[in-house]
Amino acid sequence: MRIIITGISGLLGSELYRAFSDDKNKYDLRGVSRRRPPYLAPEKHIPADIADYEDVFQKITRLNPEVIINTAALSNVDECERNPDEAYRINALGARNMALAARRFDSYLVHISTDYVFGGKPPQSPDGYSEYEEPSPMSQYGRTKLWGEYMIRESGAAFSIIRTSWIFGSARSNYITQFADGKNIIPACEDMVSSPTYAPDLAGAIKELVESSLSRRTECHLRRNGIYHITNSGYASRYEIGVFVAKTLKNTSSPDEKIRKVRLADLKEMVARRPNFSALKNILWKLDGFRTLRKWQEAVKEFILNR
Ligand SMILES: NC(=O)c1ccc[n+]([C@@H]2O[C@H](COP(=O)([O-])OP(=O)(O)OC[C@H]3O[C@@H](n4cnc5c(N)ncnc54)[C@H](OP(=O)(O)O)[C@@H]3O)[C@@H](O)[C@H]2O)c1
Repeated sequence: MRIIITGISGLLGSELYRAFSDDKNKYDLRGVSRRRPPYLAPEKHIPADIADYEDVFQKITRLNPEVIINTAALSNVDECERNPDEAYRINALGARNMALAARRFDSYLVHISTDYVFGGKPPQSPDGYSEYEEPSPMSQYGRTKLWGEYMIRESGAAFSIIRTSWIFGSARSNYITQFADGKNIIPACEDMVSSPTYAPDLAGAIKELVESSLSRRTECHLRRNGIYHITNSGYASRYEIGVFVAKTLKNTSSPDEKIRKVRLADLKEMVARRPNFSALKNILWKLDGFRTLRKWQEAVKEFILNR
């Protein structure tokens, strides 16, 4: 089975590559990004800009993949605010282009979206936003990712949209590695709350979804063409996560030596507005019979103790 993963050099893309590589003989994997990551053989790499329709459509459809997993994005929230056209180009038009390529050969498109499509309105229940709530993005990043979702939904391609939050993993530096490295005192918001999500756990869940959708073609229509929220279980503020990391690593007598409690309004260098609360309830994932991902504390602990 041929699978194309876009954003192959990113936090999630590299973990997806690892997850599907475990079954070496089952999958023919190819990765799209503008720069080739060192672990990917040149013949497995498709150098392309997903927002360039002419270029990417031809390169992908020539390979006729069964599945396209689109993780490529402009994921830097402040960069999206500074450069909204580029954000729209990659996050919305890029998603549209993947949908057009998927529709061409009836490939199954799995597209990754974000908790930042919410935040402008409070969730209906205090423990998180569910899949069927009306989005309310607060930033260009959230708005352009939401446009990407709309374009996929209207494309006629078979798709699953997966919204997730606060990914951490080993492919690049992120808030957990900053807390864990602890060289400087890290400011951490007490009024910014969501669910930390470990890239290998999310990649495993996506693999499960792909395999179950493709193995039950006749009954999978509702599994496809839908939105799933997939995150590790539970939620916490950035400050609580920082304290958890410091305590787990026991690298300080008092977490306050490593973490400085701040409020979002104190962080003047942030260009884009962020939600105070954007945790996602994984309701449809559970109702469809999939396993709930483990608690974020277990995942963070495993990651920081094994780096
Ligand atoms: N990180 C999070 O906390 C988080 C939270 C919720 C949702 N998400 C979503 O999850 C997905 C994965 O995020 P991530 O953190 O893994 O992203 P990431 O680490 O920033 O990686 C982005 C990837 O996309 C590629 N890319 C960017 N623009 C491209 C373009 N125009 N054409 C082709 N490739 C392009 C990059 O490679 P090149 O630069 O070499 O092209 C890179 O491989 C994204 O859709 C993001 O919106 C992320």
